[in-house]
Amino acid sequence: MRAIDWRRIETRMSIAPEYIGKKFCNFDVGFNKQKVKAAEIEHAARNRRWIILSGDDPGVGKTHLAIAAMKLSWRMDRAPEPPFYETEAVPDEDSYRFIPMRDWGQRIVSAGYRAEEIWDETVNGCRCLLLDDLGFEPERCNCHISRLVDDYYRRQRQLIITTNLDADGLVYRYGGAIVDRIIGKAGRIIEMTGRSYRQRGDGR
Ligand SMILES: Nc1ncnc2c1ncn2[C@@H]1O[C@H](COP(=O)(O)OP(=O)(O)OP(=O)(O)O)[C@@H](O)[C@H]1O
Ligand SMILES: [Mg+2]
Repeated sequence: MRAIDWRRIETRMSIAPEYIGKKFCNFDVGFNKQKVKAAEIEHAARNRRWIILSGDDPGVGKTHLAIAAMKLSWRMDRAPEPPFYETEAVPDEDSYRFIPMRDWGQRIVSAGYRAEEIWDETVNGCRCLLLDDLGFEPERCNCHISRLVDDYYRRQRQLIITTNLDADGLVYRYGGAIVDRIIGKAGRIIEMTGRSYRQRGDGR
């Protein structure tokens, strides 16, 4: 079997250059004592479940683990245990997509009456979306987010979310019905707190 060209795959998933190469195996679980949470996230990803990582401490690894989870889910989607992989359709890398919510929200707002086209282009044809920093998009996008979550819920597609908002903040922002769908699929909101890994002091 040919080795997976992860760099090409990550680029097609629209993963930003600074996050290329992030995996479970290069996440230091000792830093901020994240061993149990990282294992929980890895298990959910392996089973292609929804994942929501929350917390307003910066640099604690929410995006790192969310990206590792998306890549692992893609891997499981692509080649589950034999004998299934012989018959399963192989998903394209770009049907797994990293969406930075701040930028996506700006694009939606700037598109005005053509926002629908951006929504379609983002949501249709994707099997898994990683919504990074949900809540950083302009509030005017709330209806688009609600529709997206509901659409993925109904069509049994996967969402991986990072957010600075806690459960109450999410309910306040997007409404109880949307948060109920997210928690229903994810099981629970995984809170990540601690010291920023960026400030660990070795300058790398
Ligand atoms: N425990 C860790 N082991 C290895 N690298 C880590 C760890 N925690 C964070 N990092 C790295 O630190 C940087 C910041 O982490 P990340 O972006 O995932 O944080 P975050 O929780 O999403 O916060 P923010 O959204 O504010 O950036 C990334 O380069 C990430 O790979
Ligand atoms: Mg982040």
